[in-house]
Amino acid sequence: MKRATKNMDEDIQTGQVTAERQLPESKASRRGNAWLLSSVVILTGLLMVMKTESPAADAANPTPAAIEGPFFKPNAPRRTSLLEPGITGTKLVLTGRVLSTAGKPIAGARLDFWHSDSKGDYDNAGYKLRGHQFTYQEGRYRLETIVPGQYSGRTPHIHVKVQAPNGRILTTQLYLPGEPRNQRDFLFNPDLVMKVQEAPDGKVATFDFVLNVK
Ligand SMILES: [Fe+2]
Repeated sequence: MKRATKNMDEDIQTGQVTAERQLPESKASRRGNAWLLSSVVILTGLLMVMKTESPAADAANPTPAAIEGPFFKPNAPRRTSLLEPGITGTKLVLTGRVLSTAGKPIAGARLDFWHSDSKGDYDNAGYKLRGHQFTYQEGRYRLETIVPGQYSGRTPHIHVKVQAPNGRILTTQLYLPGEPRNQRDFLFNPDLVMKVQEAPDGKVATFDFVLNVK
């Protein structure tokens, strides 16, 4: 903007000189011309700044938020596997990255997952199927868990909070593709569907989170 201001000053001066040479206008009229010229210069400068400083136009959109719901518990243990004795269901391995809107990987981002068991029940007394972890190199994460069950009014989903170091928390939910209840769940968002494939011992899924940071 410093350069734009300098150009503006020069152009205003040039405009005044031109006006003084060519037109015997009043002082008020010259001030009007200078004001108009400076407005055009400022607007042009702003457009140039917007064009050069908005790479997000070509980058990914931020992952949409979703409601937290009533079953979040803080202080879930740090772990990448939520599998433990007593947990039954179809194994699900979810991997992906945490990225900025410019596509830059975010290492050290915190992910806090929680979801229901295969019958649709949450562990509200303890920390079963709850855990947090941090992204490692290239913003990658890996979660071992099971496919959540459905419960009243909800299609199967995984809750998650994602936070870049010192960043704002994104609270959202992930969904499975092809679930018949997806279309009947008013919270369902197709932008939050994981890519899921069958695996010999369950399912493998991927999802990249995009945080609204540069
Ligand atoms: Fe839920």
